[in-house]
Amino acid sequence: MPKTFFITTAIDYTNSPPHIGHAYEKVLADVIARYHRLKSNNVFFLTGVDQHGQKVQQSAAKAGVPPAEFVKDITQKFVDLWKKLDVKYDEWAETTDDRHKRVVRGILQRLFEEGQIYKDKQAGHYSVRQEQFLTDKERGPDGKFGPEWGEVEFREEENYYFRLSQYKDWLLAYLNKRADAVIPDFRQTELRNAVERLGGDLCISRPKSRLDWGIELPFDKDFVTYVWFDALTNYISFAGYDPSLSTFNSQSSTFCDKWPALQIIGKDILVPAHGIYWLIMLHAIGFPDDQIPQLLVHGWWNLGGAKMSKSAGNIIDPFALADKYDADALRYYLMRGIAMGNDADFDERRLITLFNSELANDFGNLLNRTLTMAQRYRSGLVRDLKDLVNDKFNAVVKTVRSKAELVTNALTLCWDTYEISLGLIGICELASRCNEVIEVTAPWRLAKRGFQGELDVVVYQLCEALRVIAILISPVLPKAAHGIFDQLNWRLELSGKEKRFCLEDAKWGGLPNGHVVGKPVPLFPRIEGT
Ligand code: ME8
Ligand code: MG
Repeated sequence: MPKTFFITTAIDYTNSPPHIGHAYEKVLADVIARYHRLKSNNVFFLTGVDQHGQKVQQSAAKAGVPPAEFVKDITQKFVDLWKKLDVKYDEWAETTDDRHKRVVRGILQRLFEEGQIYKDKQAGHYSVRQEQFLTDKERGPDGKFGPEWGEVEFREEENYYFRLSQYKDWLLAYLNKRADAVIPDFRQTELRNAVERLGGDLCISRPKSRLDWGIELPFDKDFVTYVWFDALTNYISFAGYDPSLSTFNSQSSTFCDKWPALQIIGKDILVPAHGIYWLIMLHAIGFPDDQIPQLLVHGWWNLGGAKMSKSAGNIIDPFALADKYDADALRYYLMRGIAMGNDADFDERRLITLFNSELANDFGNLLNRTLTMAQRYRSGLVRDLKDLVNDKFNAVVKTVRSKAELVTNALTLCWDTYEISLGLIGICELASRCNEVIEVTAPWRLAKRGFQGELDVVVYQLCEALRVIAILISPVLPKAAHGIFDQLNWRLELSGKEKRFCLEDAKWGGLPNGHVVGKPVPLFPRIEGT
């Protein structure tokens, strides 16, 4: 049975509509999923929404609607966005789903019975406004709690706790053993340092008097579970986990085959949520070390060097951008404009610059010029003459083939390690090389002088390069890749279907002698003005 490449993303809060950061993470996951399907891997891509919790309860109250109704509306916005951006997942996680609630309750019950969850009393300073207990860290330089905490009172509260700290040594040993537990490296170091400072257990409940929009504890109906055991559990509840089977190997094969997963998360939720709580939760319910998920941690899109936030009013709306520039253009910028692991500034002018120079010039012009020449000089007929023309000419033209082979290899190296933008730069270089060959060989002069063999060779190389480019670019630009194949008159029987593209087919020489290409249609019209 072949292994499934299992990829998940953070589930997005439904306390407000999606922004460009959400779009980035989902497109990144979609590109990685499509790349693995291109490699003929079986893929299971899970994403969804985080619907419970304080923030949602508050936003719903502010909007004057019940939380269930509120999350339904926001959830629809996320679903609509993923459709608009061609993000294609295999399973959709909504944490209000009964299936999910059953798994969460099953896990909590088991851990409770095993004595891994216990009840304890906390007493201390409590911020009514922020609904949290405060520690000395929250005190200002004058030793007082600042005005941001509002009214601070002394409170005693009972809650349930998970025995987190007893797993500290396990987690350190695991991180020492597995160098790529977290990507990139500097994030693994960050996590390791945080684990070394770990002390204390994890509060996992809220009394219903404080929060009732959540999953009720199976062993105490006066409490709901608070964020961790709810949200994080989605990664297994929607992949078919059965909490009544206590060891990993006793789970169904459809579940086991998916592990270990690749989990894509933003830098803000590595420590402590995914890097500490989640990995320890999995270990505590019996996941062996070699089934612990790998964490791919991406950076953030900022605006003018500052964090985007609703309160600062500097949120970028992905719907508006997709309407203005088209989904492929936005996908391209999101993948090309940021290096894996780093932050970047969102800049619409840069989106336009990259679109015009790489999509319109490199790819669009190449497609247009190639098909125009093929039609004008060859009535669309592509002939593979192999060695009929002179060596000097061949040497020039064959750089297209060597570049295509080099770029294909480099791309797999980059994308196997999630360096998406580096792979894209390679594809642009291939397109530029093709455009240079057009300049150098000047097919219009060849036509005038009647150099038929030379014309055939150039047209073949360019059409073949375009075929390869379409395959390589398809995970990032699915619509445009279909456009290129349609115009090349290639694999029309699979038009619009993802399986039209396959990495194996990127091998040079796939276009047969005598193939007839179609007519050029502008693929990426330049964005003018602004
Ligand atoms: O954290 N740039 O939800 P969320 C890039 N529900 N990525 C960004 C970003 C930005 N400006 N802003 C947010 C949550 N993200 C929880 C997760 S998982 C069990 C629970 C990323 O809506 C962020 O890093 O605040 C996270 O990975 C994802 O969007 C959802 O963020
Ligand atoms: Mg967050």
